[in-house]
Order: sequence, then structure tokens, then C-alpha cells
Amino acid sequence: MQLGTALTPSATRILLLGSGELGREVTLEAMRLGVEVVACDRYDNAPAMQFAHRKHVFDMQDAAAVRRVIEAEKPDFIVPEIEAIATATLVELEAEGWHVVPTARATQLTMDREGIRRLAAEELGLPTSPYRFAETLEGFRQAIAQIGLPAVVKPVMSSSGKGQSTVRTEDQIDAAWAYAIEGSRGRSTRVIVEGFVPFDTEITLLTVRTVNEGTLFCPPIGHLQQSGDYVESWQPEPLKPAVLKKAQDMAEAVTNALGGRGLFGVELFIAGDEVLFSEVSPRPHDTGMVTMASQDMSEFELHVRAILALPIGAIDQRAPGASAVIRATTAGTNPRFDGIDQALAVDPRVHVRLFGKPDTRPGRRMGTAICHAETTAVARELAKVAASRVSVVVD
Ligand SMILES: Nc1ncnc2c1ncn2[C@@H]1O[C@H](COP(=O)(O)OP(=O)(O)OP(=O)(O)O)[C@@H](O)[C@H]1O
Ligand SMILES: [Mg+2]
Repeated sequence: MQLGTALTPSATRILLLGSGELGREVTLEAMRLGVEVVACDRYDNAPAMQFAHRKHVFDMQDAAAVRRVIEAEKPDFIVPEIEAIATATLVELEAEGWHVVPTARATQLTMDREGIRRLAAEELGLPTSPYRFAETLEGFRQAIAQIGLPAVVKPVMSSSGKGQSTVRTEDQIDAAWAYAIEGSRGRSTRVIVEGFVPFDTEITLLTVRTVNEGTLFCPPIGHLQQSGDYVESWQPEPLKPAVLKKAQDMAEAVTNALGGRGLFGVELFIAGDEVLFSEVSPRPHDTGMVTMASQDMSEFELHVRAILALPIGAIDQRAPGASAVIRATTAGTNPRFDGIDQALAVDPRVHVRLFGKPDTRPGRRMGTAICHAETTAVARELAKVAASRVSVVVD
């Protein structure tokens, strides 16, 4: 395919590696434009599979299985939705001419916190928290001694806060190591130790790399995380013009280095006038679900348009918005949801988006309440109240 040429969507096939709630929205937006979508995940009936044209259930870390499905489906675009996939195979497939979004190297570098951190801090020279890597308990103790307390510990391969903890006192060091190893689930014993950043706020800067329109930015999204997992996000997070410019320049530098086309979620810490790079997802971001309420084109529609080289024109924020997560409290299957009526009664601008996950676990994200309002403060309050009225029921 020629760069700069938009494919006819109806002649295009996307293969999604990962079929969670973000992939579900990408599927819907692609299908609305006539794209054929093949959804893959390790378990059946995953959120995106409930809409896609076809599905495949297999272990996406199994290199041979990834290759077999891609060679059978012959997608125009391979669109990874999660980090834990056989990215070395994606690198090989890309070299053979398959199109990986945004690039196979981007999926490889961001799968592992070490890859993206070294690229951002050491190659691009972006400011980050101080960091060390460790692979043994002894090395870990040394890393903590070098970084100082408090320190944030994460397995290099993990997401959504798994295995992450903050060490504040010396007697917590060994427990943090054990927790990180447990959280990496046998994939690696490597951890990153970061200096704790006392940020004022943290943002996701959704950044869109397009073929014909350069790099576009969404207004910054503020968010709140608990135990390393997202609970609430809002847009816009007001920043001084000079700070926003710094954030955009950093996002552009890191997304240029990763290359390709599509939407990225660049996570940044804001401390006074300082901006620190934290991490980046080369795909839509969970905190970006707020854009379904606040923007004319959601992050999912922007991702699809960027992939297909379709026009975007301008990113229009219609109103301040917010998203508040709905979680399960127990483990079970075939969840039902109580209180949807009460959630929607909070305000006509509230919407509930359930993800369609077939199983629950304590703390598992099952849906979100989103809304727009006259200010972000009002939108946050409405979304929070609405989300709190929904409960996840399993037998
Ligand atoms: N060095 C740090 N200093 C202070 N807080 C931190 C630091 N690193 C991470 N955090 C907090 O923990 C959250 C999760 O960290 P991070 O984004 O690195 O992990 P993650 O598991 O990839 O999360 P997700 O998958 O939800 O993006 C951050 O959004 C931030 O709130
Ligand atoms: Mg993160």
C-alpha cells in the first residue's frame, strides 16, 4: 500500500490481538466504517468478540499460534490491544510485509517497561523519575538504596498496577520484592525501581500519528489511580500553555521514535512547571474512555481513522467530560448489573458503558459511567455518583 493512500474501508480487514473493552470500541468504530474485524484473545466471548465478524481463541504469547492465525486471516492491519503478546513474532511478520499498528518495534518496546524507559530517558533525553532495574532480591535492595525512599516498584512486564507497590520504609522492602515477583506471574523476575514522584497531577495526552495530517493532540486527560489502577478520568485537565507545550513536545518526541500510525496514550506527571514522562501505550488508553462523552470523535474512532489514513480534520472537544469505573467485588461468571436505572437517573447526560466481560474478579473493571457537563468538576461528580449506583451481581 502506498503511504498517503486511504484504503477503501470495506475492502480492509483488521485483526485485533486482544479483545478487551478497548478493543471492543475499536471494533465498533471500524465496523461502522465497513471494515472487517477479526477479534483474538486467550478466552472465548471476550468483549470485542461479541461484535466482531470472526474470532480466534488462542494464547497470544504463543509465537506459532500468532503466526498461524495471521497467515490464515491475511489482515491488512494487525492491531495489538494488549502488551502481553509474542512481539518478536510481530517484528518478524512486519519484516515479511505485514502491517503492525503502530509498528512492531513500538509493541516490543512498550511490552517491557525497560525498553520504553531507556528509549525515553537515555535515547531521547526526556525527564523521567530516577530508576534502576533489578533481577534478584540483593540487586533489588541495592537499587532501593540507590534510588532512596519512597520508591515505586513494578515488574517490568505488568499492567494495571499488578505487582506494583510503593516502599516507604525499610521494613517494606522484602515484601515489595515478593509482591512484584508474584505480580509478574512467572514471566520475568525483572523489576523497575523508580523514585516516587510527588506530582500535582498526572495526565494522559492522547496523541494521534496520521499519514496525511501530521501529529494531532487531544486536550489533556487528568486521572486518578488507586493501587496503580485507573478509577476516574476527566477532560480537560487545565495546564498552563507553556506546560502543555512541553507535554506535547515530549509526546511528539516519543511517538515519533515509535513511529507508524494510530493513537497513543502518553502518560505524563505534572509537578509545578515540570513535566515527566511516565509511560506510553501505542494504542487507545483506558483513561481515554472519557472521550466517548467529551469529544466529537472518541479515541477509538481517531485510532481507526488514523490506521486507515482517513481524514480527521480537527479534534473537537464538545464539552468537559468524565469517566468513573464500575468494578466487580467478587469472583463469578455471567455477571448481572443492578442499579442501571438509578445511574441513568442521575442526569440525562450520563451514559453507562458495560464492557461485556464474561467473568468477574474482585476489583475487575466491568464498565464505566461517562458524562459531559458544564465543568469537569460537575462531570466528575455526576460520573462518580452514577458509577457508585451500579453493582455487579454474580451467583
Ligand atoms: N514513579 C512514580 N511516582 C509516583 N507515582 C507513580 C510512579 N510510577 C507510577 N505511579 C503511579 O502508579 C500508576 C500506575 O503506574 P504505571 O502507569 O507505570 O503502571 P501500569 O501498571 O502500566 O498502569 P496502567 O496499565 O494502568 O497504565 C501511575 O499512573 C501513577 O499514579
Ligand atoms: Mg500507566
